Amino acid sequence: MARIEIHGGVPLQGEVWVSGAKNAVLPILVASLLGDGPSLVNNVPHLQDVTTTMELMGRMGAELSINDRMTIEIDPRSMNLFEAPYDLVKTMRASILVLGPLVAKYGQARVSLPGGCAIGSRPVDLHLHGLRALGARVEVRNGNIEAYADRLIGNRIIMDTVTVTGTENILMAATLARGTTIIENAAQEPEVVDLADFLISMGARIEGAGTNTMTVEGVDNLRSTEFSVLPDRIETGTYLVAAAMTGGRIRCTRARPAHLDAVLDKLSETGAQICVGEDWIELDMQGKKPRSVDITTAPYPGFPTDMQAQFMAMNTIAEGTAVVTETIFENRFMHVQELQRLGADIQVKGNTAIIRGVPGLNGAPIMATDLRASASLVLAGLVADGVTLIDRVYHIDRGYEIIEEKLSGLGARIKRL
Ligand code: EPZ
Repeated sequence: MARIEIHGGVPLQGEVWVSGAKNAVLPILVASLLGDGPSLVNNVPHLQDVTTTMELMGRMGAELSINDRMTIEIDPRSMNLFEAPYDLVKTMRASILVLGPLVAKYGQARVSLPGGCAIGSRPVDLHLHGLRALGARVEVRNGNIEAYADRLIGNRIIMDTVTVTGTENILMAATLARGTTIIENAAQEPEVVDLADFLISMGARIEGAGTNTMTVEGVDNLRSTEFSVLPDRIETGTYLVAAAMTGGRIRCTRARPAHLDAVLDKLSETGAQICVGEDWIELDMQGKKPRSVDITTAPYPGFPTDMQAQFMAMNTIAEGTAVVTETIFENRFMHVQELQRLGADIQVKGNTAIIRGVPGLNGAPIMATDLRASASLVLAGLVADGVTLIDRVYHIDRGYEIIEEKLSGLGARIKRL
């Protein structure tokens, strides 16, 4: 099993380019199944989850080809199998996103029920509630979700909880329903907006993307399109935190600063100097240690839960004491024990962690448990004295494209064993 070895202590310097967003490209690739011809998706990051999604769509009979390093063409016209089997769903929960498109376009779907995962139980009840509200017959049996509909019918759906993929599943299904669908308490994440923009480019009629109320006028079919995926705001934030922790100065290019307001505000609070341009963000820590910052995660535009572990890593070596509260997932503190192995002073009480900054961390063998937790361990390794060895790095590869190359390009002493 691959491992990553880091020699800490180098302030990061230089420029790093941001890849396409994982949490936008996954629903967009799946949404291309709704089209009546081949679509082209550009700025696709090379991630394990993208490979898994392509494998899933290939098994359903779609024709996929990679035109160059970052462009995928999907032709759904040869689709002949409308299911997502357990062996793929268990490796990537986002496979649930095929449910809406399959029912809407092909009238049927069988998707393995995603089990829990490291960060929480993560039920999909709201996905199923939404599809039932659109007239689908949905059963759960033998570990599978089975859904059928002759033609979905628009409806007004109020989401009990803000759910990103739940909103995306219902949005995709509603585009081909008969009549109007209103989604209340919809997720407002930029990745939801990017999916809506992709669907609109296919001829869907969607209003209100990026607000908590989305209105969809169903159409009879959607056409081929070409689209470029937005930059990954979580990858961007992760590199900015790496620069802040190591006292360095970096510029992230091909970025979208407007999607990082909450994160940039918190980074400024740590004492970092931040400049932004049209498509770049520069952070200069001027050799200083960061000040502790309190974090409470919330749905967008609040502070993103996907940045919580990274800021916790920064707080372990910051000046002062920080309180980090995770409100989205019930068990997203798996990185705490691993950070404690490096010498961090963290106390967890329920969904709140209290982090007292320590003068420094010491390298040690540690283990990644989930995608963002593993990123926080890499960040901790960048500042720890000596060598940090991170096991189970397949978690990192799900969401960070060529992370060693990008960090080495900024001066980090990091390599994959
Ligand atoms: C998406 O997951 C992201 N994944 C996650 O990113 C991200 O952490 C999460 O949104 C929150 O922003 C993708 O977009 C592929 P949710 P998702 O449904 O949609 C509860 C990463 O690191 N809920 O918004 O699965 C759920 O338990 C990943 O890139 C229900 O109760 O998250 C959670 O407490 C990790 N019933 C809350 O809603 C449902 O039917 C938010 O979950 C659905 C969700």
